[in-house]
Amino acid sequence: MDDLFSSEEDKKEIERLRTEINYHNKRYHEEDTPEIADSDFDALFKRLQKLEEKHPQLITPDSPTQMVGATPSNKRQVVKHHQPMLSLANAFADDDIDDFIERIKRYLGTEQTPELVAEYKIDGLSCSLLYEGGKLVQALTRGDGQQGEDITANVKTIGTIPHQLHGDNVPNSVDVRGEIYMTRTDFDSLNERQATAGGKIFANPRNAAAGSIRQLDAAIAGQRPLRLFAYSMGESNVNFNTHSEQLDALVKWGFEIVPDVKIFTDSKTLLDWYKTLVKARFELPFAIDGIVYKVNDRQLQSRLGTVARAPRWAIAHKFPAEQAATKLLGIDTQVGRTGVVTPVARLEPVYVGGVTVSNATLHNEDYIAERDIRVGDMVFIERAGEVIPKVVSVILNKRADGTQKYLFPKQCPACGNELVRIDGEAAYRCLNHFACPAQLEASLLHFVGRQQFDIEGLGDKMVKMLLEKGFIKTPADIFTLHQHRDTLVELEGYGEKSIDTLLATIEQCKKISFQRFIAALGIPMVGNQVAVLLGNRWGSLEDLRAVARSDKGQHQIEEIDGIGPRIAESLHDFFIHPRNDEQVQSLLAAGVVVEDFIRPTTDKITKFTGKTVVLTGTLNQMTRDEAKHHLQQMGAKVSSSISAKTDFVIAGDKAGSKLKKAEQLGVTVLGEDDLLNIIGS
Ligand code: IVH
Repeated sequence: MDDLFSSEEDKKEIERLRTEINYHNKRYHEEDTPEIADSDFDALFKRLQKLEEKHPQLITPDSPTQMVGATPSNKRQVVKHHQPMLSLANAFADDDIDDFIERIKRYLGTEQTPELVAEYKIDGLSCSLLYEGGKLVQALTRGDGQQGEDITANVKTIGTIPHQLHGDNVPNSVDVRGEIYMTRTDFDSLNERQATAGGKIFANPRNAAAGSIRQLDAAIAGQRPLRLFAYSMGESNVNFNTHSEQLDALVKWGFEIVPDVKIFTDSKTLLDWYKTLVKARFELPFAIDGIVYKVNDRQLQSRLGTVARAPRWAIAHKFPAEQAATKLLGIDTQVGRTGVVTPVARLEPVYVGGVTVSNATLHNEDYIAERDIRVGDMVFIERAGEVIPKVVSVILNKRADGTQKYLFPKQCPACGNELVRIDGEAAYRCLNHFACPAQLEASLLHFVGRQQFDIEGLGDKMVKMLLEKGFIKTPADIFTLHQHRDTLVELEGYGEKSIDTLLATIEQCKKISFQRFIAALGIPMVGNQVAVLLGNRWGSLEDLRAVARSDKGQHQIEEIDGIGPRIAESLHDFFIHPRNDEQVQSLLAAGVVVEDFIRPTTDKITKFTGKTVVLTGTLNQMTRDEAKHHLQQMGAKVSSSISAKTDFVIAGDKAGSKLKKAEQLGVTVLGEDDLLNIIGS
């Protein structure tokens, strides 16, 4: 009886899951407005697969586990694929990959792991491109795998898709498959343009690419920055022995293929590559949601064949989700050290990008208004790598009745002062400066931070206490704290020893380098790197102050290579403001000594003079900051990202994707020892 009962329950559950999955398939594939995160969809799918495995007699041909994608929309012509467009089985855990390899070996009756090609799984939409006599004649979406929508006109607007194949061995007729995608930067600019025009904001590059290709007007699709990576082809009169050979041919014919393709013969190195990419993927210019492993040998591929909707010879190893859906419980505002007021989303905690997230940024008033984000909404949030989580979009058809448009506060949440929105800026600011407790606290924490005065012992807690008790009202007060020693040692929880240590540390920190001092002032857009450029030109605080305050100063500052007009303006504005000038003078009066800038020995031309250098990996014999300082002293420009303009990469231990990119670009790579030798020479 029990069994019968649970079967009945399972049957109902199967039906429920099918309806739900079909619904989400439609939202994702046809409408480009998903309601649940990919990972939640995968979980539903997996649950259905499990139940169907338990009751194989309940599998029907129209179950989503047996089909690919969604029924094509009837807005366009629907065309049958020459060969079905398959989907891929998904794997999430390392064990799933070991099982995949074991299954292949068992099936082929071999002990040896066959060569596996590992390709990025591009997060876009798949497309089939039919070439007759080398000419592009038809492009179809995947649709339900059997038939897809005709998107030829739109596809012809994509620059990276050849209209004519060139090179040798072009088949009479061939079906090239690939992924249409949008780079992350193109996606951001598209969303910005959409926001300005009051158009639809896309949650991620995939939705943006899919929404663009689905435009009925090819002229609009043509304005969208779409690209394609080719990753396979159907049968043709030209034979290839391996998948790698097919990829090589695709390049020769004029396609861009998925970059960084690797071949593995054991699961350990393959899984190491996966682990590297879990982190490094965010440095790629496009979004990937996993790695696809494919058996390289095409004969083995045909022996392995296909089950239901996916080949047995390939699998997608998915990454932990970057996006998740959750409820927006409230919107708070935070005041930063420059007075900018940032809205912060308070969320129902949700697991995304490998951590549980309960706060996310909402950027500014416009960002909220463009997306009409309301308290109580279900929203998508995104956490890509180390980046601060952000709310990307609202799931509109889950909006409850009675929600209200969000109104940005008109008063500073910390001091009550009227907020102003400066012309040309999206941010609201509180102009109350140090009279606003939030700005004072944030400025002080910046002032004593590692890259600035670096006063150990003046952490969050201590700064808060000193502010609350009124010992500090401006940064200069830090240096006269010793006058309050007797009161401070009486405070509960501190005691003589810790207070004396702190006061001694403060005393030692009074002497500071030019660049650290300039960075400590908290001038918008002016950090240590800009300070070094300024130091190189003017050398002392007095000289810089005189130039920045003068009428022609802004122009002179702008002439420095690496400093733009906005930074120059920011410096000028800071130094001419009497309040800031007073702050600098009171720091000097309190005993702060700003050393003159030590210029690199310009008469000595070093290996690094005028060169752009990138540091990556872990250094053992010096900190990153020290290495950077030495390099700058030798005339180098230290940059954080690698491009064709990079001259050297200094790679420490565990250097990852930057090192890889350097190698690809042919940039000279040096080790820590090389750097030490050059410093010592
Ligand atoms: S091969 C039979 N390779 O992933 C094998 N697919 O979940 C068919 N995708 O429909 C696919 N990058 O849209 C393959 N390097 C890659 C891919 C890739 C992205 C997509 C493709 C496919 C889906 C399956």
